[in-house]
Amino acid sequence: MQAVQKDQTGATLSFDGKSLDLPLVRGTEDELAIDIQKLRAATGLITLDPGYGNSGSCRSAITFIDGERGILRYRGYPIEELAEKSSFLEVAWLLIHGELPTRTQLNGFAHEITRHTMLHENFVRFFEALPTDAHPMPVCAAAVGALATFYQQPETEQNLHDTVIRLLAKMPTLAAFSYKHSIGQPFMYPVNKLDYSSNFMHMMFATPCEEYIVDPVIARALDLLFILHADHEQNCSTSTVRMVGSARANLFASISAGISALWGPLHGGANQQVIEMLESIAREEGSAEKFLARAKDRNDTTRLMGFGHRVYKSYDPRAAILKRACNDVLGRVGISSRLLEIALKLEEIALQDDYFVSRKLYPNVDFYSGVIYKALGIPVNAFTVMFAIGRMPGWIAQWLEMRRDPDFKIARPRQIYTGPAQRPYLEMERRG
Ligand code: CMC
Repeated sequence: MQAVQKDQTGATLSFDGKSLDLPLVRGTEDELAIDIQKLRAATGLITLDPGYGNSGSCRSAITFIDGERGILRYRGYPIEELAEKSSFLEVAWLLIHGELPTRTQLNGFAHEITRHTMLHENFVRFFEALPTDAHPMPVCAAAVGALATFYQQPETEQNLHDTVIRLLAKMPTLAAFSYKHSIGQPFMYPVNKLDYSSNFMHMMFATPCEEYIVDPVIARALDLLFILHADHEQNCSTSTVRMVGSARANLFASISAGISALWGPLHGGANQQVIEMLESIAREEGSAEKFLARAKDRNDTTRLMGFGHRVYKSYDPRAAILKRACNDVLGRVGISSRLLEIALKLEEIALQDDYFVSRKLYPNVDFYSGVIYKALGIPVNAFTVMFAIGRMPGWIAQWLEMRRDPDFKIARPRQIYTGPAQRPYLEMERRG
């Protein structure tokens, strides 16, 4: 392949004595891609890119990341500004509709979401059918998939609008009910006078026995976490949502699959693993160095959880915001966190260590989020559910963009087959 110059409009591939001109595609921020859509038809070749580190799967106008420079923007707006000035529902509208809402639009959106937070009463039996120690991620994946059975209408624009509202509205209720079920407390129904994050805290921590007042500083911290998780372009779970949706599966089914992907410890599940790692270090005084030695050892599968990222090769901007927020939240709830001290120490040592520096491994969003969730009283196995609540608008926006894309087609990668060549069926008597 010829080198691509900045002002070029194409690249030339030479193969088997022939050459093929392939057009370049340029993004808003001047990022370049070679469009290989004609490659196989013209040459019989396909590309091979395990883990998709070099493959763009779509054009998208939703989120921009520059991993080298630590930049994250939703619809052009820097994450730092949104974190400071916006709210989760405003960000959700922005991601889904492309522009910041007017006051009337935002009020209408919040009102609609508030009116759809209740679950069908049959869901009570759904939760009862599951073991009390069920991990909340598969519970939420199953519950979101099950929502499709309650809303089986054809996919019209109005029904799609209702589905979007229902997903945003009911996800916190599903998450809180799964927690209440696990601890044997009665479900707390949504309270319409509360905002999105306060209502979630109420459903999680209130009981019918006494009044529960949501601390606005705590609710704001949760809202911030949701904003920071709201989208992250073509990551594993979002690509899953797009992949499933590309079969024209409905939005509930697609997002249920995305929740399952997010559960993985290399993806959203890392936030639970980070806190478990910090707790295990806390149990063994002075073991931060020991732990880092294991994380660096090629013969040990241990990793420094919450560190490293496929895209960020500098500090994840979300981690920088959360690191600052940790102190505010811990100060507010009045606890000094040994876990935060350990996290800060681990970061300090790692960022001076050639292993991490040379591989450009920095804290990612999951490194500090767990410290805040813990301070808010969120149970450790529900950390990834918080991520899922936050990611919901991103998944929705990406799914809608995919379905409305003029280039829409079912996602169907190819492969290089490495199994046996054709061979005749072996009769049972002749085997082994
Ligand atoms: N601890 C120790 N070594 C690491 C780590 C880590 N956390 N992350 C990467 N490395 C090493 C890895 O062993 C490899 O070394 P070598 O070149 O000697 O073989 C090198 O760095 C490159 O790693 P990779 O696994 O090829 O990189 P990747 O882009 O495939 O993986 C990652 C990215 C996030 C899966 C990985 O960094 C990781 O496992 N991190 C810990 C889990 C984690 O925090 N995940 C949350 C990601 S952010 C939230 C989200 O988007 O879900």
